[in-house]
Amino acid sequence: MKIVFDESLRTGNERIDSEHQELIDRVNKLVESCEKGTEKMTAIKTLDFLMDYTEFHFADEEKLQKEVGYDKFDQHHQMHEDFKKSVGELHEMLEEEEGPTDAFVQAVNKNISEWLVNHIQGWDKAIADFIRAKQ
Ligand SMILES: [Fe+2]
Repeated sequence: MKIVFDESLRTGNERIDSEHQELIDRVNKLVESCEKGTEKMTAIKTLDFLMDYTEFHFADEEKLQKEVGYDKFDQHHQMHEDFKKSVGELHEMLEEEEGPTDAFVQAVNKNISEWLVNHIQGWDKAIADFIRAKQ
């Protein structure tokens, strides 16, 4: 499932939104690489490419949360950790298979694409709202 970065995903915080656009771009590259029945190595590379930016973005978003004294930091941090764990599991899955299987694609849709959309619409919008309320 490809993600379209539309108004429903905009938090209104420029820093968060621009990072989300890059993150979604990389998720879509992963989805695309699965659809084409890509070779295992290519799929692994797109997953690593996503993981790299996920690490950067979560760290930066958490830094921002600390800066503004966000009250739900611990819960939010835990969600990020859970997501990183899911990506790690997908990596293992891919290593064990010949390439992206149907089960892998399903897991990407559910644990990456859907998770991210829900996370942004709920949790990340809450940070942006918190920041706006403080200003
Ligand atoms: Fe987040």
